[in-house]
Amino acid sequence: MPDKLTDQTSAPRPSPAGASQAVAGSAAARQGAEGGVPAVEFRDIDITYGKFVAVQNFSLAIRRGSFVTLLGPSGCGKTTILRSIAGLVDISAGQISIGGRRVDDVPIYKRNIGLVFQSYALFPHKNVFDNVAFGLKYRNVPKADIQRKVRQALEMVRLPGSEKKLPSQLSGGQQQRIALARAIVFGPEVLLLDEPLSALDANMREEMRVEIKKIQKETGITAIFVTHDQEEALSMSDRIVVMNAGAVEQIGTPEEVYETPATAFVADFLGKANMLAGTVSAADEQTATVSLAAGQTVTVASPRALAPGAAVTVVVRPQKLSVGPAATSNRLAGRVVSTSYLGSSAIYEVDIGGRTTIRANTTISGRIAREGEAIDVGFGPAECVLLDGSGSRIG
Ligand SMILES: Nc1ncnc2c1ncn2[C@@H]1O[C@H](COP(=O)(O)OP(=O)(O)OP(=O)(O)O)[C@@H](O)[C@H]1O
Ligand SMILES: [Mg+2]
Repeated sequence: MPDKLTDQTSAPRPSPAGASQAVAGSAAARQGAEGGVPAVEFRDIDITYGKFVAVQNFSLAIRRGSFVTLLGPSGCGKTTILRSIAGLVDISAGQISIGGRRVDDVPIYKRNIGLVFQSYALFPHKNVFDNVAFGLKYRNVPKADIQRKVRQALEMVRLPGSEKKLPSQLSGGQQQRIALARAIVFGPEVLLLDEPLSALDANMREEMRVEIKKIQKETGITAIFVTHDQEEALSMSDRIVVMNAGAVEQIGTPEEVYETPATAFVADFLGKANMLAGTVSAADEQTATVSLAAGQTVTVASPRALAPGAAVTVVVRPQKLSVGPAATSNRLAGRVVSTSYLGSSAIYEVDIGGRTTIRANTTISGRIAREGEAIDVGFGPAECVLLDGSGSRIG
């Protein structure tokens, strides 16, 4: 199935003169450079619906064979971006290239792209064979090849022998596998997946995460996945593009966006970080002492010397907080507001001095603190990220 992808790898790069300099130094350029010609590249894309600007100044280079996720809240423009790759939405500024070729004027049917949507979108009266074969017949593939390719695609999605079944005879997860088989059977250059797991129940969702990832690796296809589920994004992606209101907030590996969020938005969207507002009271090259608005003082690692009096936000993940007497450094005294017992871990909401509530997610080792109990929470100086007054990470 990936034959076509291999052919594309050696294709010359017909990019316009000077274009590579235009994005030199940008995140897009760096990302593309690592893998040669990007499988998909957006340069300064704007997309509008009438007067409404849905996507603004969007640049991204996607490495061939990688799995990239567009993550962001409802309405931030994820589907719009995906549809623009397929040619289902027109861009109003910028350029899109697939395999180094500009596709702005290439019609939908000439873009070699596989699509999987949230709803299974199978033809209800066609059997599995005809559903999967659809894209092949449309492309005038010889009959004998169709039989073979459909069989291979069904094996790949672990539903061999299901050719004669109707969609109504399949579970939601199975239907989505058929939709996936239909999208990859003709060897597309790029696979677009728009919230393909959101209609499935929790167990099936997890199983399908693993399956989709496996198929993507086996075929070597470039996949662009859309979700607003942070767990899905973190567990499946090589890179995550965090979007907010039609613009990119951060592009990075799952670890990068989770551990070192570039903005307050990213910190909050991925994993509900604790945001402790404060003012720098003392600082040197490596550390900053911050007087928190809640009243306490913490000492944290700082990438450079900060000016005393500067407004900062200390961002701490719930998992980085220790709870109880072991909470030594940056110890904050509080009272348990609520305890959620999760078996191997517990989530505490802890009120700190009546001014702020901290969320701590800890592995259970001993007694579980209950509502109303006095408790200490603490975190090490390096187990946080510092944001400046405008909500950007201090680097
Ligand atoms: N055909 C359209 N006409 C007008 N506005 C639209 C159209 N399609 C989308 N929009 C608007 O553009 C914005 C981005 O929509 P989009 O569907 O890309 O969001 P999304 O990130 O995929 O959201 P969700 O997670 O809810 O699917 C939204 O504000 C939406 O209301
Ligand atoms: Mg959408």
